[in-house]
Amino acid sequence: MSTLCEELSRVKTYEYTAEDVVEFEALHEEIRALKKERNAIIVAHNYYRPEILKVADFVGDSLELALMASNVKDADIIEFCGVHFMAETAKIVNPSRLVLLPNLLAGCQLADSAPADDLRARIAELKKEYPDLAVVSYVNTTAAVKALSDIICTSANAPKVVRSLPNKNILFVPDRNLANFVANQVPEKNIIPWDGFCYVHQQITPEEIDRIRQADPELEILVHPECRPDVAKLANAVLSTSGMVRYAKEKPAKRFLVVTECGLTDRLAMEVPEKQFLKGCKLCTFMKVTTLDDVRDSLKYMRYEIEVPARCGGCSKRQGSALCVSLWLCGEKLFTTEPQRNTEIRE
Ligand code: 13P
Ligand code: SF4
Repeated sequence: MSTLCEELSRVKTYEYTAEDVVEFEALHEEIRALKKERNAIIVAHNYYRPEILKVADFVGDSLELALMASNVKDADIIEFCGVHFMAETAKIVNPSRLVLLPNLLAGCQLADSAPADDLRARIAELKKEYPDLAVVSYVNTTAAVKALSDIICTSANAPKVVRSLPNKNILFVPDRNLANFVANQVPEKNIIPWDGFCYVHQQITPEEIDRIRQADPELEILVHPECRPDVAKLANAVLSTSGMVRYAKEKPAKRFLVVTECGLTDRLAMEVPEKQFLKGCKLCTFMKVTTLDDVRDSLKYMRYEIEVPARCGGCSKRQGSALCVSLWLCGEKLFTTEPQRNTEIRE
């Protein structure tokens, strides 16, 4: 088994010194002791800093983290090493647990690009033209936006979720690139995209990918669906972050170009040392803002608690329900949640 020092030496995004690793080991020990004392579980998104991934009990993509959070029964605290909307989702699917986000600066620019008031106005406008309109929101949205939506999807299940709806006309919020990917996969629907994008994925250009591929034509190219359509067109596979991890582990290919946030290449380099992962990636400052010290301090001082409003205003469809949210993450499982009732999870 590799030591922490060996694993971190394979990471390309950061250059760790021997002193850094010694410091991480001491912090890991402190965090493990606090985790036991607080009866907490640590979950982390694939993009988080490698030294945080190494102390997490579970690492995954948005769908896996939501499923994981919904199943937490024995731990009292979910220490959520992700961005704000992910921690909020954990609270929605498991309202009886205390959910902590170690750094409140861990937001998401894509989620912020769809304010609930603007969405409400857009729905009203589109309903005049399309009375059957359904609103499908990517999980990268605030709870208030989820409350206005008919169904929630993640990058792992977006086409499947859209296909499951009887409605022909779909307002897809907030990512226009994911909306485009869904429109190609589900041509029988009329997908109306919200005009948002992720600043990290939007920066990646087809020219960059072409240049790398020309130098190494054997590379398998894995692209996240938040990338531009002209980038997605160059992919061998378009996948969620954990979809890329599974693909890279299962396929016989030895070299991959991983086109998403840089953290994923770091996870792959640590877990699959026998293969090579080139980066066609950019850093997400929101995913990288949290440090190992923040994780320790979060458990030590019990901060920062994520709460979902008990009543969120303006959901005309489901007025009167506790949060006015039905959150369905239709992947392997289907959730319906209404806080103040128990979360119900159906196969
Ligand atoms: P995944 O659910 O594929 O991990 O994506 C989350 C995200 O924020 C991508 O930018
Ligand atoms: Fe949000 Fe983009 Fe960062 Fe993902 S990579 S958390 S979508 S800003």
